Amino acid sequence: MGVLRRRWAVPLLWAALLAVALLGGARGSGDGAAVYIVTMKQVPVSHKRLDLESFGSSGVAGGGGGGKGDNPATSILRKPRHASPKFVNYGSLLVRLQNSLLKKTLRGEHYIKLYSYHYLINGFAVVLTPQQAEKLNRRKEVANIMLDFSVRTATTYTPEFLGLPEGAWVQDGGPQCAGQGVVVGLIDTGIDPNHPSFADDLTADNYPVPAHYSGNCEVTSDFPSGSCNRKLVGARHFAASAITRGVFNASQDLASPSDSDGHGTHTASIAAGNHGIPVIVAGHHFGDASGMAPRAHIAVYKALYKGFGGFAADVVAAIDQAAEDNVDIISLSITPNRRPPGLATFFNPIDMALMSAVKDGIFVVQAAGNTGPSPKSMSSYSPWIFTVGASAHDREYNNYVVLGNNLTISGVGLAPGTDGDSMYNLIAAPHALQNYTTTPIEMSLGECQDPSHLDKDLIKGKILVCSYSIRFVLGLSSVKQALDTAKNVSAAGVIFYLDPFVLGFQLNPTPMDIPGLIIPSPDDSKIFLSYYNDSLVRDGTSDKVVNFGAVAKILGGLKPNYGSSAPKVMFYSARGPDPEDNTLANADILKPNVVAPGSSIWGAWNSRGLDSAEFTGESFAMLSGTSMAAPHIAGLAALIKQKFPSFSPAAIGSALSTTTILSDKQGNPIMSQRTYSNPDSTQTPATPFDMGNGFANATAALDPGLIFDCSYDDYLSFLCGINGSAPVVANYTGNSCGASTMTGADLNLPSITIAVLNQSRTITRTVTNVASDENYTVSCNAPYGAAASVAPAQFFIPSGQKQLVTFVVNATMTNSSVSFGDVEFYGDKGHRVVIPFTVMSKAV
Ligand SMILES: *[C@@H]1O[C@H](CO)[C@@H](O)[C@H](O)[C@H]1NC(C)=O
Ligand SMILES: *[C@@H]1O[C@H](CO)[C@@H](O)[C@H](O)[C@H]1NC(C)=O
Ligand SMILES: *[C@@H]1O[C@H](CO)[C@@H](O)[C@H](O)[C@H]1NC(C)=O
Ligand SMILES: *[C@@H]1O[C@H](CO)[C@@H](O)[C@H](O)[C@H]1NC(C)=O
Ligand SMILES: *[C@@H]1O[C@H](CO)[C@@H](O)[C@H](O)[C@H]1NC(C)=O
Ligand SMILES: *[C@@H]1O[C@H](CO)[C@@H](O)[C@H](O)[C@H]1NC(C)=O
Ligand SMILES: *[C@@H]1O[C@H](CO)[C@@H](O)[C@H](O)[C@H]1NC(C)=O
Ligand SMILES: *[C@@H]1O[C@H](CO)[C@@H](O)[C@H](O)[C@H]1NC(C)=O
Ligand SMILES: *[C@@H]1O[C@H](CO)[C@@H](O)[C@H](O)[C@H]1NC(C)=O
Ligand SMILES: *[C@@H]1O[C@H](CO)[C@@H](O)[C@H](O)[C@H]1NC(C)=O
Ligand SMILES: *[C@@H]1O[C@H](CO)[C@@H](O)[C@H](O)[C@H]1NC(C)=O
Ligand SMILES: *[C@@H]1O[C@H](CO)[C@@H](O)[C@H](O)[C@H]1NC(C)=O
Repeated sequence: MGVLRRRWAVPLLWAALLAVALLGGARGSGDGAAVYIVTMKQVPVSHKRLDLESFGSSGVAGGGGGGKGDNPATSILRKPRHASPKFVNYGSLLVRLQNSLLKKTLRGEHYIKLYSYHYLINGFAVVLTPQQAEKLNRRKEVANIMLDFSVRTATTYTPEFLGLPEGAWVQDGGPQCAGQGVVVGLIDTGIDPNHPSFADDLTADNYPVPAHYSGNCEVTSDFPSGSCNRKLVGARHFAASAITRGVFNASQDLASPSDSDGHGTHTASIAAGNHGIPVIVAGHHFGDASGMAPRAHIAVYKALYKGFGGFAADVVAAIDQAAEDNVDIISLSITPNRRPPGLATFFNPIDMALMSAVKDGIFVVQAAGNTGPSPKSMSSYSPWIFTVGASAHDREYNNYVVLGNNLTISGVGLAPGTDGDSMYNLIAAPHALQNYTTTPIEMSLGECQDPSHLDKDLIKGKILVCSYSIRFVLGLSSVKQALDTAKNVSAAGVIFYLDPFVLGFQLNPTPMDIPGLIIPSPDDSKIFLSYYNDSLVRDGTSDKVVNFGAVAKILGGLKPNYGSSAPKVMFYSARGPDPEDNTLANADILKPNVVAPGSSIWGAWNSRGLDSAEFTGESFAMLSGTSMAAPHIAGLAALIKQKFPSFSPAAIGSALSTTTILSDKQGNPIMSQRTYSNPDSTQTPATPFDMGNGFANATAALDPGLIFDCSYDDYLSFLCGINGSAPVVANYTGNSCGASTMTGADLNLPSITIAVLNQSRTITRTVTNVASDENYTVSCNAPYGAAASVAPAQFFIPSGQKQLVTFVVNATMTNSSVSFGDVEFYGDKGHRVVIPFTVMSKAV
C-alpha cells in the first residue's frame, strides 16, 4: 500500500482497490465491531474557557471583523491561552462523565475505549458493535455518533525539479529570528529528531521554548529522552484506532513519534526547518535548505503511518492534543480517502475539531489533496480551513542527452554529466548479455537489475541503456539497482528510456551518483531508441550486433536552471469548485485558498525512511504533492503570527490570500495543467478553481493593508444556513441554530463565490485596516454574465478601523457556465488587495 500511496499516479485502478481495502478495514473484525467517534452534549474545555473569558474582556483597537454576528472582542484579537487548574479539572470531569456513560449504557458488555477527547470536542473513540452504538445513540448525553474513517498523506512525485524553498523570511530580521516564539503543530508521520534541520545548538543565543506551549515529549526506546529540544518542542503519537484494526505493524510503523516513513520529517522541515542546512544527496551538494520560518518551533503529533495512512479517530486525538498544548498553527498534509457522507462535506469529525481549533485561535492549514485535475476534485472543504494547492515555480534541474546525430533530448535525474565533450557508445542491456541470444529475453534483463548476465568487457566505458518499465512503478525494479549494475560493469553512464507501457506516469526525481538520466517522454524515448537501433550494425547471417554505432554524451542536471515559464498549478493538485455534499452541489466557498510550491521540493529526510526507495540512506529527499505545499503556508503563517500576534486565524488567511501573485515577471498568467498525461501540453491560464486567490507572496502577506476577518459565530451561522442542518449543527457543536444564518457568499471571506445567481444578489464585505491611515479606491470587474456595482467606490480608512463595502450583483444572461472576475482595492500608500469574484450558474 505504501507503494500505491507514493506512486498513485499510474495505477488509478489500484487506487480504487486501495480505497475499497481501507473501507473494508474500517469495519473492524468479527461481530461487526468498528471504531466509532462519539461526541457528548456538554461543551469541551476550550469552549468553556472562551465563554468564561469573553466576560469582562474589553474591545481592543484593531480588533473586530466583518459579517453578521460580528463581535469585536472575539475576532481579530486572539487571547493568550493558558491552562488554569479550573480547566484541567473540567477536562477530567468530562472524561469521568464519558466513562460513566459507557459503563452505565454498556453494563457488563465488552467494549474498548480508545481515546477521550476533551479539549476541542467532548467525546471519545470507542470500539463497539452496531447494537452497542445504537444503545449509546439513545442516550440523551450523546450528541453524535459517527463511524471512524481513513485518511492519507498527499504526497506524489512529478518530473519537474524545483529549487529549494525560497527564503521567505529574509524580509525582517532574517533567519535569526523568523518565526521565533511561534509553535507549528504538524499532524503527520512523526519526525526524525536527529536531523540537523531540527537541531537547536544554535550557539548560546536566546531561543527559549515559547512559554505558552505546554506540550511534552513522549519517550520510547526509539525516541529516547533528549530527542526534543528548543526547536522540536513536543512529540506524541496516536495509533489506537490503527492498532485496534490490526493494521499497525510495530516494527515498521513504530509506536512512538519517530518517523519511519519520511513524510513528516520532510513537511516539518519545509515549515520550520533550520536555516542553512546543506542538502547533500548521492554525494552532490544541491545548495542549502531552510524552512519557511526557520526559527519557529515544531511540535509533532504523529497520526499517520506508512503502510495504511491513518484514521480519523487518531487524527482527531492528535488535533485535540495539539490544541490543548497551545500550538499556534496546525498543518495537515492529509486528506480523507473519500468525500465525507452526510448533509454536507463540512460535517465530519476532523473538520469539526478543526473548527473548534479555529475558535481557539489556531490557524489551520490543510493540503488540497492530490485528487486533481478534474473539477470538484477538492479534498479539503471547510471555510475555516486554509486549503493549499500545489504549484511548480520556474527553477528546474534539467539534464540532456546529446546524440551523435546532434539531436538533444531532455531528461530528468539529479545526476552529473559525462566527461567533457567526449561521445560515448551506447549499448542496450539486451545486446550486452554474456551469452548473446536473439530469442526473447526476460524483461528484467533490459532493466539492468542484475550484472551477472552482462558482458563486462563489452559494456566497459559505454553508456548502458536500460528500460524503465512498469516494474519500476510497482517497486519491483529500481533505479538504484540499475546504477549498481552499471557501476559493477564499469559503464560510463546510464540512460533509461520509458517503456511504452508506462503511460502518464510521473517520474520520480532520482538522485544518481554516476552520469545518467531518465527520458520521461514516451515520444522522446522512441526517437532515442530508433537512433540507437538505426546505428546498430548486424551480422548478415546471425543477426548478431557486431558494432554499436550510436554515441551520446550526457549533460548533467546538478545545477538548477531558471526558466522563464510562469508558475503552474500541477495537474494532481485538487480543484474547486468546493463540493458542498455528495450530490456535488457547489458551495459558495472558494477552494483551494492559495497555491504554494509543491512540486519537487527538497526537504529533510529520515535516512531510514521507507517512503521513497530513491532516497533511502539520504538525509534529504525531493518530494512532490500538495503535502509539500501546505507546510510552506504553515511556515509563512508563523511569520505573520510573529509580526501580528493578535491576528485571528481568518485574518492570517486573509493576509495570505489578498496579496498573492497572479502572473510571472513577464506578466504572463499563472498556468494550470489540465490533464493527467502530457500535462504540459494542456496548460491554460489558471482560474480561482485551480489556484484560489493565487500563488502566495510571503513579503506582501506581511503587509496586507486590509484584512477580511471572520469569527466562529460567522462559521456557525454559515453551517446553520445549510437547509436541514440545525440538528446536525447541534449534534456536532452543541450550539443551536438561531435566526441568524448566512450563505457561504455572505461569509466575510477574501473572495466572493456565488454558486447560483438568481437575478440579483447583495453581498457585503467588511475590511479592517491593519496598516496606517489610507485612502482606497475599489474597482470591481464583474464576471461574464453578471453586472456589479460597489459602494463606496472610494473610502478613507483610519488605522484599526473597519469599512463596510456593498456589492449589488445582477445576472445579465441565463448561463450555467462558470465565469470569473475580481475586486481590487487600491490604497494610496501602495497596498493592493485583490479578491476573486466567481459566479457559477446565472439566471435573469
Ligand atoms: C512488519 O514489518 C516488518 C518490517 O517492515 C516486516 O518484515 C513484517 O513482515 C511486517 N509484518 C507484518 C505482519 O506485516
Ligand atoms: C553536428 O554538429 C556539429 C557542429 O555543429 C557538426 O560539426 C557535425 O557535422 C554535426 N553532425 C551531424 C551528424 O549532423
Ligand atoms: C550460452 O550459450 C550456449 C550455446 O548456445 C548454451 O549452451 C549455454 O547454455 C548458454 N549459457 C547460458 C548461461 O545461457
Ligand atoms: C559485481 O557483481 C558481482 C556479483 O554479481 C560481484 O561478485 C563483483 O564483485 C561485483 N564487481 C564490482 C566491481 O562491484
Ligand atoms: C531496428 O532496426 C531494424 C533494421 O535496422 C528494423 O528491422 C527494426 O524494426 C528496428 N527495431 C526497432 C525497435 O526500431
Ligand atoms: C511580492 O510582494 C512584494 C511586496 O509587495 C513585491 O515587491 C513583489 O514584487 C511581489 N513578488 C512578486 C513575484 O510579484
Ligand atoms: C429544504 O429541504 C426540504 C427537505 O429536503 C425541502 O422540502 C425544502 O424545500 C428545502 N428548502 C429550501 C429553502 O431549499
Ligand atoms: C443527533 O444525535 C441524536 C442523538 O445521538 C441522533 O438521534 C440524531 O439522529 C442525530 N441527528 C443528526 C441529524 O445526526
Ligand atoms: C429565482 O427567483 C424567483 C423569485 O425572485 C423565483 O420565482 C424563481 O423560482 C427562482 N429561480 C430559481 C432557479 O431558483
Ligand atoms: C485621503 O484623501 C483625502 C481627500 O483626498 C485627503 O484629504 C487625505 O489626506 C487622504 N488621507 C490619507 C491618509 O492619505
Ligand atoms: C441591478 O439591478 C437593479 C434592479 O434592477 C438595478 O437597480 C441596478 O442598477 C442593477 N445594477 C447593476 C450593476 O447592473
Ligand atoms: C456562457 O458563458 C460562457 C463563459 O462564461 C460563454 O463562453 C458562453 O458563450 C456563454 N453562453 C451563452 C449562451 O451566452
